[in-house]
Amino acid sequence: MADRYAVIGNPIEQSKSPLIHAEFARACGQTLVYERILGPLGGFAACVDAFRSEGGLGLNVTAPFKLDACAYCTELSLDARLAGAVNAMKFEGRQILGQNFDGLGLVRDLEVNLATPLAGRRVLVVGAGGAARGAWLPLLSCRPAELVVVNRTPAKAHELVELAHQHAPDSARTCRVQGMGFEELRGRVFDVVLHATSAGLSDQLPALDATVFAPGGLAYDLTYGKGLTPFLRLAQHRGQVRLVDGVGMLVEQAAEAFTWWRGVRPDTASVIAQLQVPLLAPHP
Ligand code: ATR
Repeated sequence: MADRYAVIGNPIEQSKSPLIHAEFARACGQTLVYERILGPLGGFAACVDAFRSEGGLGLNVTAPFKLDACAYCTELSLDARLAGAVNAMKFEGRQILGQNFDGLGLVRDLEVNLATPLAGRRVLVVGAGGAARGAWLPLLSCRPAELVVVNRTPAKAHELVELAHQHAPDSARTCRVQGMGFEELRGRVFDVVLHATSAGLSDQLPALDATVFAPGGLAYDLTYGKGLTPFLRLAQHRGQVRLVDGVGMLVEQAAEAFTWWRGVRPDTASVIAQLQVPLLAPHP
């Protein structure tokens, strides 16, 4: 029987993971089955128990189960612990390993696919929720000159600075790491601005000024397939800013999981090209 993997969420129809992993498996000559599982609300653990008892080897986890997955794992990576969210699990006998590959996927997309190494650059993360927390240490490990997190609730941004000093003291010494509220951000300019709030879900925009984008810089929205989000429109308004959404991050985090499970790194370029949605303004 072929090795079994799946993505679990609720709803699950929208997930691109089956397409991405099927494409990776085909390109790498790996025989595996990758399914979609509609997890019952409140029934995550029982559902994963069943999948494991049927021989399942690994899962991707999507909303609303990322926290349940944290609790289910016997071992968590540091990125998963900091994010408070697991998006990939591997089953090895009694061990249940949990990872959060969003941060690594983001960094790989920036540095490799978009040819934008972060070393020596001024990097701003907008938002200090789960998405930002998962990306925080991978971003710091790229040794930017400045790594600033701005959040509506400044205390959560300050927490991230604490985490940097605690978990990556060397990087935090050579990089200017700061956390702040939007007021304090006035007059600051960044080469790379990463949007990691959930404000876009309600078509809102955090209180950012367009002058935050350095001309010739990059505006990256971690969401995928939403066209020109309010954040990207703001950057477009500034002019001379490269606009990017999270399609590359989505595919790269999947590639990290595939490599972790199978020991083979798939090529991502063709899958990213396949999933790319043009950055056009949404219809009114
Ligand atoms: P996720 O897992 O998507 O990061 P989350 O952990 O709930 O979701 O975090 C949501 C983030 O979006 C937070 O940084 C939140 O700011 P607060 O910490 O101040 O709540 C931010 N956010 C959500 N709506 C926002 C809005 N309208 N304006 C600015 N920030 C917003």
